Amino acid sequence: MIFKREILNLIDEELKKYLNKDNALYKASKHLTFAGGKRIRPYLSILVYKLKKDDVKDMLPAAISVELIHNYTLIHDDIMDNDEIRRGKPTVHVVYGEPMAILAGDLLYAKAFEAVGDIEDSKKAHEVLKVLAKACVEVCEGQAMDMEFEKYWPTVEEYMEMIRKKTGALIEASAEIGSIMADFNREEREAIKEYAKRIGLTFQIQDDILDLIGDKEKLGKPVGSDIREGKKTLIVIHAINNLDEDKKRRLLEILGNVKNEDEIKEAIEILKPSINYARELLKKLTDEAINYLKIFDKDKRKELEELAKFIMNRVY
Ligand code: IPE
Ligand code: IPE
Ligand code: MG
Ligand code: MG
Ligand code: MG
Repeated sequence: MIFKREILNLIDEELKKYLNKDNALYKASKHLTFAGGKRIRPYLSILVYKLKKDDVKDMLPAAISVELIHNYTLIHDDIMDNDEIRRGKPTVHVVYGEPMAILAGDLLYAKAFEAVGDIEDSKKAHEVLKVLAKACVEVCEGQAMDMEFEKYWPTVEEYMEMIRKKTGALIEASAEIGSIMADFNREEREAIKEYAKRIGLTFQIQDDILDLIGDKEKLGKPVGSDIREGKKTLIVIHAINNLDEDKKRRLLEILGNVKNEDEIKEAIEILKPSINYARELLKKLTDEAINYLKIFDKDKRKELEELAKFIMNRVY
């Protein structure tokens, strides 16, 4: 997937309009926002919009609202997950301290709704507002479930619900917002929602895989963080349900209680068959996602097909 520079520039220019001050709060807010994120969510909004309309100018505030929300969630997530590196740079709380990082996240959150207020067509603005607010609620619910999982072993179904909320909700909202701004009919809107639902899930499952076997440099964030934090990812849940007793006991000893780097390697070795299981699931979900695009023009849907494949195979 080649992300087009001209679209990425439009996204960055629009984001800058909302963060055009230079005091400590804004510096902290811009630290992550302009640290080189992939911009997948606004890009997705724009690609969906382009299925039916060409001139993206009027929909840019809508498109970047999801990127502002995304960056807010990442700043708070890194505090919650104790992570010190993101996008290859020290996290906001490491540079500016936790209180300012919390506020920087809050500012981005508020700015997203300021951007929604700037959507010219008030009927569309109202629809986008509802979609975005719902996604924000679900992200909080999903992140809370993620934390609650520290206390018990979730089922695969519970894990899927958790990632659909913490990660999928905003990806679905991004696509839906593109479809609102481009006046999709009901059938088209439903198809896009089904597509986005699946790539939202694949996005997080691949994130969990990359946390185990990714390349730290390419990824720009630490590898093994989920093992250190004892996160119950799909891969870990599958392993616990399928491993023999010895391996299971060893994995449980290491999870959330890592003494050295070798133990992380050992855990990853134990998790290999479960990583393969997760990969199979990614393929299935991606095929399904692409199938939902069939009602759209063949040439125009190409980039969304590529995006679905990119998300499944991404290394960063
Ligand atoms: C990371 O999202 C957080 C998850 C939801 C897994 P991205 O991988 O899209 O992060 P950036 O924006 O490109 O840094
Ligand atoms: C991301 O989950 C969830 C968010 C909604 C921010 P992770 O905690 O796995 O994301 P990374 O790995 O830190 O990017
Ligand atoms: Mg997290
Ligand atoms: Mg995290
Ligand atoms: Mg992760």
